[in-house]
Amino acid sequence: MGRVQISPSILSADFARLSEEVAVIADTADWVHVDVMDNHFVPNLTLGLPVVEALQKSSALPLDCHLMIEQPDRWAPAYAEAGAASVTFHVEAADAPIRLARALRSAGARAGMALKPATSVEPYLDLLPELDLLLLMTVEPGFGGQPFLDAVLPKIRRAKAAIGDFDIWLQVDGGITAETIERCAEAGADNFVAGTAVYGADDPAAAITALRAAAERSKP
Ligand code: DX5
Ligand code: ZN
Repeated sequence: MGRVQISPSILSADFARLSEEVAVIADTADWVHVDVMDNHFVPNLTLGLPVVEALQKSSALPLDCHLMIEQPDRWAPAYAEAGAASVTFHVEAADAPIRLARALRSAGARAGMALKPATSVEPYLDLLPELDLLLLMTVEPGFGGQPFLDAVLPKIRRAKAAIGDFDIWLQVDGGITAETIERCAEAGADNFVAGTAVYGADDPAAAITALRAAAERSKP
């Protein structure tokens, strides 16, 4: 499995102080996870391209943009063009996922594809060579602070087996804590999004270090 990467979600940060909130995690996190929601694909509205462009200028960490939006074929490449190092679209919303993944790569980003908890991974296994990251949601997308869905663990195991030696990061997002991260790491995930567990902690940097240690301990 790849090295453990921690991608704190700023959904749980103070939106009025975003650059300071990113600075707090800059020495311990690998990425900044940016949740873009359009109030159509999910019943919540967060931020979009102008805020991502501003973060791109101010963040010392690379941006990991998770697009929970309709029509990603139309909107996602602009996030790569804005400089986001990783851009993830939802397969449930994409018209042409292979074409979109290629467009993201040719705009210079890592191409990520996300699946909601009830979306099977098997129909998409032939797409793996087109991807740099596979995100398996461990809550229904839309909100932070929801409990982790253990029902996704078998899918994590099957996805990991299919990824094999491909250089594809297996990301989990939703309900990740120092406890649930162990189950995900044991199942084969190597890239971990955490919102509440980082920004809800008194010391976000220390929370990241604790999450990383828990994942390292549980790697297969
Ligand atoms: C939810 C978002 C997550 C969210 C996770 O739809 O994709 O990134 O911020 O928050 P926690 O870690 O609190 O479950
Ligand atoms: Zn997310």
